[in-house]
Amino acid sequence: MSFSARKPGPRFEPRPRLTDAFINSVNEAVDLEDLVSESVDLRRSGTTVMGKCPFHNDGTASLSVSSEKGFFNCFGCGAGGNAVKWAQLTYGLPFPKAVQMLAERAGIPFPHAGDAPQLMPRPTPVVRPKPNEASALPVAPVENLYQVTRIAADAYIAALVRSPEAIAYLESRGITPEIARRYVIGFAPDEFGFLKGAFGNDYARNTDLIAAGLSKEKITPERNTRWDFFRKRVIFGVRDKEGRPIAFGGRVLPGDDGPKYLNTPETGIFHKGEVVYGLYEAASAIRAVQRACVVEGYMDVLSLAGKGVKNAVACMGTAVTESQIEQILAHTRDVLFVMDGDAAGRKAMLRALLLVIPYADANRFQFLLLPDDLDPDEYVRAHGPAAFREEHHLGIGEALSKLLAEQADAADEAGKRSLLQRAARAIEKLDPSSPLAADLRARMTRIEGIESPNPALARPPRAPAAKPVALPAIPPAGERLLNAAMRLPGEAGRARMNVNSVFAAGAGPDMVEREFLARLDAAIAAGKAAPSQCTDQERRSYERVLEASGAIAGEIRRSREAAAAARLLARGEISDSAYLAARTRE
Ligand code: UTP
Ligand code: MN
Repeated sequence: MSFSARKPGPRFEPRPRLTDAFINSVNEAVDLEDLVSESVDLRRSGTTVMGKCPFHNDGTASLSVSSEKGFFNCFGCGAGGNAVKWAQLTYGLPFPKAVQMLAERAGIPFPHAGDAPQLMPRPTPVVRPKPNEASALPVAPVENLYQVTRIAADAYIAALVRSPEAIAYLESRGITPEIARRYVIGFAPDEFGFLKGAFGNDYARNTDLIAAGLSKEKITPERNTRWDFFRKRVIFGVRDKEGRPIAFGGRVLPGDDGPKYLNTPETGIFHKGEVVYGLYEAASAIRAVQRACVVEGYMDVLSLAGKGVKNAVACMGTAVTESQIEQILAHTRDVLFVMDGDAAGRKAMLRALLLVIPYADANRFQFLLLPDDLDPDEYVRAHGPAAFREEHHLGIGEALSKLLAEQADAADEAGKRSLLQRAARAIEKLDPSSPLAADLRARMTRIEGIESPNPALARPPRAPAAKPVALPAIPPAGERLLNAAMRLPGEAGRARMNVNSVFAAGAGPDMVEREFLARLDAAIAAGKAAPSQCTDQERRSYERVLEASGAIAGEIRRSREAAAAARLLARGEISDSAYLAARTRE
């Protein structure tokens, strides 16, 4: 089972019929420099516009972009093409989706399946808000909702430059104008009918505004009264995967009353649990550094981006959902969770950890527990972006031990039991023979004073073992070593010493190495607890793997160093030559 595989497409996925003429008109309608600048800092020098290429680790600015020609081209890696190609590469979209995204951006109606080119487009599907959520909102065609939300976004963006108060606040939070442009940041002035300016006569009549959550209304026999939902708030636009604004978060200004954030309610185009805030904006950075940072709030994403950490996304104050995780895993298999250091943040962290366990055989998850009551924004402010480097991160096993013990301790008997049961159920979703499953099971039983609440936990690993999936930083040979140690636990002691001494000889053991050693110990323990038969041939092959333990440990150390260096390089924290040195170091 592969969890990182994309789900089959959304429900309405008629195969669009795209003529060359249509595709050309879309390419021509898009201002390429505009599009590219949403994910890359572009600089104009003379007649050329250049930026750092997001498709390889670009130290210099080798990407050139021309709106006039409608082409981009990278001198470094050879990536190049038109606007549609850019959208495909940057947002990971299939060709027709990329065309659709750009068409919508440019306001060109997109043909639906079966439309002959000369026919009028079919009416767009009507999506009802989910039952019992925001059921008071009227229903509107999704195209209308996209349209009014975009118009409102533009109005809020335009209003920001006229509000010294909002600008001062954003500046005080380290949000640069460049970040404000890249993310849809605006301001809703202190007026009940600000949006009238953008919608004119429609403001009073068009139900789409109500359905999109932009305005509220009171209907009496005498008259209808409407007013803006967002007033005197800094506006954070939420975009969907294709870059369309679909909702807003409005933050109070300091000193004002009311809830810190007002958010667009669930609408026909906005379902909170299915949106990852900032993913559209961060997608190319996530792909470049091959890691995503998941934080809690809008402000965390934005202030981190302001400090150069451009791969952060947020789950909008809700518990992380499977849909959100799967969207992130479509871009990278390496995800770092950084949550607030208060009790609520730690609870959210454990909940996220349990949610991702089933995905953890094929992906790598890490956790950064911030010291008391700091949020990511304050943490980076205090310690600089270096704080996001590896040495502070916990692997999934270590984080599980720590968070579970901590929270089980604080809970009463019933709370403790239910917590452990939730963890056990999550672990059961892993391949029971994988070394990770063995590690997590061993950790569960080790949590002091707690016997396994679930007999399934004590279940020995099943043989024959399915081939474990390699984590990005642990090469397949490392997984083979774990497996061999579990199968021949009696012979694995020497291999463990070899591994330990190779790790210690490196630049100093990193999280990855510590995690690997912990998994190795767990594999040996699991193998001893549940000895399994193997044929002579299997035994010889496991012995060979154990004998190669020193070389395998070296490989793990080097691949981890190279991955760390690639990340630093992508963030501009080290030079190309330092990166090369790390890649080639023996
Ligand atoms: P935080 O309180 O951590 O907000 O809530 P923040 O974005 O970091 O803002 P600052 O740093 O205090 O200025 C985390 C997230 O929870 C949701 C928002 O999505 C917020 O970003 N939230 C919080 C709400 O929806 N409503 C609220 O009243 C508070
Ligand atoms: Mn915060």
